[in-house]
Amino acid sequence: MPVSGSEIGFTISDSTTELVRFLIRENAQIRRWEYVTIPQGDKSILARIEKIISRSELIGEGLDFESLGKYVENAITYNSVICLARVVGVYSEGRLEPSRDIILPGSPVERASSSILESVFSFPADEALNIGFLSGREDVRVSVSIRGMMRHLAILAQTGAGKSHTAAVLMEELLKKGASIVVLDPHADYVLMRQSSEAFRYRDFIQIYRTQLSTGRYDAFQKGIVKEFTLRFSDLDPDDLAEIMDVREGWTNLRKAIAEAYESMNGAKDFEDFHRAVKSLDSDENRHLLARIRLLGKVKNIFGDRTTTMDEYLRPGHMTVLDLTGMDQFLANYFSYRILREIYQSKIEGRNDLPVFVFVEEAHNFVPPGSNTLISQMIKRIASEGRKFGLFLVVITQRPGKIDQDVLSQCNSEIVLRVTNPIDQRAILESGEEISQWVIDDLPSLSTGEAILVGPFVKMAVSIKVRPRETREGGGDIDILNLLSKAKAERDSLDDPKELRGKISRFLED
Ligand SMILES: Nc1ncnc2c1ncn2[C@@H]1O[C@H](COP(=O)(O)OP(=O)(O)OP(=O)(O)O)[C@@H](O)[C@H]1O
Ligand SMILES: [Mg+2]
Repeated sequence: MPVSGSEIGFTISDSTTELVRFLIRENAQIRRWEYVTIPQGDKSILARIEKIISRSELIGEGLDFESLGKYVENAITYNSVICLARVVGVYSEGRLEPSRDIILPGSPVERASSSILESVFSFPADEALNIGFLSGREDVRVSVSIRGMMRHLAILAQTGAGKSHTAAVLMEELLKKGASIVVLDPHADYVLMRQSSEAFRYRDFIQIYRTQLSTGRYDAFQKGIVKEFTLRFSDLDPDDLAEIMDVREGWTNLRKAIAEAYESMNGAKDFEDFHRAVKSLDSDENRHLLARIRLLGKVKNIFGDRTTTMDEYLRPGHMTVLDLTGMDQFLANYFSYRILREIYQSKIEGRNDLPVFVFVEEAHNFVPPGSNTLISQMIKRIASEGRKFGLFLVVITQRPGKIDQDVLSQCNSEIVLRVTNPIDQRAILESGEEISQWVIDDLPSLSTGEAILVGPFVKMAVSIKVRPRETREGGGDIDILNLLSKAKAERDSLDDPKELRGKISRFLED
């Protein structure tokens, strides 16, 4: 046998052009999903191991227990390990092409080299976003193509699997490429990204906008740097007012009453002026509107002397994080809508040719199925037409079944991390043609930060470990172990008789 030493096994009978069967040498360290190559002259067939079967010609089901014991005792088992690997293509001169080659039994099988894998799973530097490493092969960098991102992207996974981490890594990569980014951030997950240890000057290119309602956790470092997003009351039209008072589109009478009050304002056209105008409305709607205005009064700090303009939050090569914490969903919807509408409008009127990426965290709350709010209409419009104008979506959700399915299906590229719930798995399977059953089967076993990438931003579906972040994480999980141990220490100190005696004697002394 022409054993060269580099092979881990040899192909055996009944391999097809799609599925290779090979027997591996004893002690070969091989794992499921690993890539192997089968050299064919100056080309190599690249395949991915789908199944590993251990078997023995001697020890089978028909064997009685006693005989089995004897074989095992005498180490006579005649074990062998067979792998089934799916052919992904034929590699030659830096390119991977579809393979139709016949694979003859007895062909050597090698572990795929880092250089082949890296050239298969990366893109030229000018279009590459370096997102991580091949799963199980930390020596192989994997990038995605910024061109592929033009057909929108969805990041899907259950909670805690690494969605926000992955989104932040993508933001870092996009910023390095000069993209303009707007982030709708309902949990202040991205507000600390200005802080970073790396050479790239993230702090110069990231700005955080909050409102007076924000409950985002910031440390002293961030205070003073964060800008405030304000609305001037007089810049709002009746539709805007209806939205921020959560008066839905179908409630025509209330909407009419708002328009009437709006027309009859005769003072500073501010909140108080509007309030007065509603009070003097001579209609049944007056009572309903006053109740809503009382609610609005509670959040009136969002109004300021001026309205933040697009030139401030959309700058070439910069990222703006809009901290939406502390807002009810309808207010978060309104702010987000206002921003996206302004950007969209500037795009269709040809006033803005910046490539803009809009990250929507908790996207299921902004575009639930069947929703007809202004923000959901706007996101749907961007999903269907945005790429013509250079406006690209990244939707992030842990509820793939609870987001508008048209939006999801417009996201041609997907990053899927761990998902164990079968209902969510089904929603993911139905979300795109490129998601096949093996992707779904793999989802429950992914560890945090492991992801499967499919769609036009990769050359073929690939499973990766997302790289560490260069920027600081915000709004993450609380440190429960630390908090519990502090609470326990405090309780124990109360139960401690010595402590208690000390307390009593100090009390008596006083
Ligand atoms: N690739 C990774 N490498 C290292 N740590 C990671 C990676 N991905 C995620 N983590 C860590 O795992 C934790 C959970 O990640 P993350 O907050 O991104 O999850 P999530 O899917 O956004 O969760 P949620 O649904 O609660 O928002 C974080 O502390 C994060 O730092
Ligand atoms: Mg998150």
